[in-house]
Amino acid sequence: MDATIKKQTLGQFFTKNDFWLKNHILDFIKLTKTTIAFDPFAGSGDLLKVAKKIGFQKIKGFDIDKSLNWKINDSLLSIPKIKNSIIITNPPYLTNYSAKRKNIYDSVKKYFEICKYDNIYQLAIEQCLNNDFGIIIVPETFINSKFPKHRLTSITIIEDQLFNDTENPVCVICYDNKNKTYDKIKIYKNDKMLGILEYFEKMRRTPQKNIYIKFNSPKGQIALRAVDTTDPARPISFMKPKEIDYKLSNIKQSSRLITVIELNIEKEIIEKIIKFSNDLLFDFRKKTSDVLLSPFKGNKKNGERRRRLDYLTARAILENAYEMAHPTMKLF
Ligand SMILES: C[S@@+](CC[C@H](N)C(=O)[O-])C[C@H]1O[C@@H](n2cnc3c(N)ncnc32)[C@H](O)[C@@H]1O
Repeated sequence: MDATIKKQTLGQFFTKNDFWLKNHILDFIKLTKTTIAFDPFAGSGDLLKVAKKIGFQKIKGFDIDKSLNWKINDSLLSIPKIKNSIIITNPPYLTNYSAKRKNIYDSVKKYFEICKYDNIYQLAIEQCLNNDFGIIIVPETFINSKFPKHRLTSITIIEDQLFNDTENPVCVICYDNKNKTYDKIKIYKNDKMLGILEYFEKMRRTPQKNIYIKFNSPKGQIALRAVDTTDPARPISFMKPKEIDYKLSNIKQSSRLITVIELNIEKEIIEKIIKFSNDLLFDFRKKTSDVLLSPFKGNKKNGERRRRLDYLTARAILENAYEMAHPTMKLF
């Protein structure tokens, strides 16, 4: 099997950079008092090399690829519990959809048959949770996924690129099944503690669907660039259709990055709604430090992660702006 195929089928992207090892993650490792660093998806052993550097004398690795010279184990099916160990890993990532698109579904079918989720890294987390302690590098979309998070102690968004061959946005999750001394899941961005998961869950916006709003409608009166550009001065914004630097006739039913939105509103208040929507979005981003917006591949020029505004949140913002533009009207 060549390297490209191993990337596709086995998710062989190795964690060459150690920016993931933030001080609070190192403190967590020390608090566990474990003596063995264990990577059940060891690859070329980069995470175990870091473990050695920070003082672990014993390391243990498994992989399914025999050419990597670790003990062979299918860690997506089960991971043996190793006493006194902490898992430090980055498992393979693969969605059901992309396995089918890349014509490799047959080789991974057995995992999707037992996986309740649509990405096998979540099956990997489930298996890792069998061990008492762990640190797992996973896609940042994990934060907004439905995967139960009550067993975690922290989630850390890492903005620096950890891999040399992919720009996949990632976060690091830590768990401690033994001491269970943590009842609040802390959310960090790089080194900074932003708050607890509960706070962010409460900040999530859901639309009421009480006014007519249609996305990707050529007749629309409001355009939305739903993704940050690499220029920090040109973030996600609502605007008039003529202001967007994009050929609007290219917008399709499936467009997720640039759209035109049709609303049932009087012409005179369009500008107001655009302004209120941008103000509400700015406030939402500030209060949530972008944690609730999907990460987008590649960072801005200032090193911050680019974000995408999903259309449900966009709809909730527009409904709110609509109410602000009609202060005497009560919608529900
Ligand atoms: C994303 S790479 C990460 C390697 C290493 N943990 C790192 O961070 O550099 C995932 C590794 O898991 C291995 N792998 C894929 N499926 C596996 C399975 N079912 N059981 C064990 N290892 C697997 C791949 O061969 C690859 O080496």
